[in-house]
Amino acid sequence: MSSSYYQRHIFFCLNQRSNGESSCADHAAQAGFDHCKQKVKSLGLAGPGQVRVNKAGCLDRCAGGPVAVVYPEATWYTFVDQTDIDEIVESHLRDGQVVERLVLAPDVGR
Ligand code: FES
Repeated sequence: MSSSYYQRHIFFCLNQRSNGESSCADHAAQAGFDHCKQKVKSLGLAGPGQVRVNKAGCLDRCAGGPVAVVYPEATWYTFVDQTDIDEIVESHLRDGQVVERLVLAPDVGR
């Protein structure tokens, strides 16, 4: 049995940068977060020993936005729509399988 309070934890950057540079909030980050929350709940995955979905501020990988990161694997994702979120929830958060097609390239930074 895992000693982690949550089995998996996903953080969504919802940041809006004020300097005009690209930020996750410009790319439907909030919609992705909301959908993820709802999907995790509807599958009965939310709570201690299972999955937690959290908002985050800037994760400093804005050029790939919108971005989210899953722990404990530290897998970084970028996503476009609800289908992408569904796949992250069902494949990774529930089944532990990384969704390779949505993994953020390692060199994407701010
Ligand atoms: S604005 Fe999302 S990572 Fe920086």
